[in-house]
Amino acid sequence: CQQLTTAPLLAGVRLLLTAGPTREALDPVRFISNHSSGKMGYAIARAAREAGADVTLVSGPVALAAPQGVARVDVESALQMHQAVMNRVDECDLFIGCAAVADYRPAQVACQKIKKTGDNDQMVLTLVKNPDIIAEVGALPSKPFTVGFAAETVDVEQYALGKLQRKRLDMIAANDVSQSGQGFNADDNALTVFWQGGQATLPLADKLTLARHLVALIARHYRP
Ligand code: CTP
Ligand code: CA
Repeated sequence: CQQLTTAPLLAGVRLLLTAGPTREALDPVRFISNHSSGKMGYAIARAAREAGADVTLVSGPVALAAPQGVARVDVESALQMHQAVMNRVDECDLFIGCAAVADYRPAQVACQKIKKTGDNDQMVLTLVKNPDIIAEVGALPSKPFTVGFAAETVDVEQYALGKLQRKRLDMIAANDVSQSGQGFNADDNALTVFWQGGQATLPLADKLTLARHLVALIARHYRP
């Protein structure tokens, strides 16, 4: 059997990686979130560790164990993830934003459980925008090599290229989450990776295989 080896590709490179969803609290018992399982991010953490990187994984709530040799920082909300990343970004060479960060959070978090009332059949929530973590990393004066993800359901290439420019990323890995069995919460995934002046297709595979190919591709483009 042919084993893809990425052994020394990222030796000594300090990688900061986000993974999983975030949870945006409404009250002590409820939150808004998404279907991210963290599997892709955790697979990248493992593949990067295998490739010799020194990996710090800032993780939203997921049902996965940290890969061996990876330092994990647990967070819940987008604001906590933002803080955890900004506290550590100066000490990294490579940043990969794989987390499905909630774009908005409830404007107010109730201290007590919100009760349903007899006369209201509708409830309106006011949400406020969360900080765009990877865009802040991309705007740093001495930014790490920055790789983003884009989960899209239509016009994948156009949206991904827009995010590459707008967030000042070095690379972006796009997945078409309208295809069943790949992307969000699935075991398999397929990616199209874009960078300034190039692109590569990583065909449908289990997430660890895909992560190893992605790490190899990042290593080929990585400039300290
Ligand atoms: N991202 C982030 N902080 C946010 C939102 C997104 O760091 N508040 C990162 C994700 O981790 C990913 C990239 O930005 O690497 C793209 O995320 P995506 O949700 O696809 O893009 P958005 O800019 O949020 O646009 P939209 O959801 O409207 O497509
Ligand atoms: Ca988003």
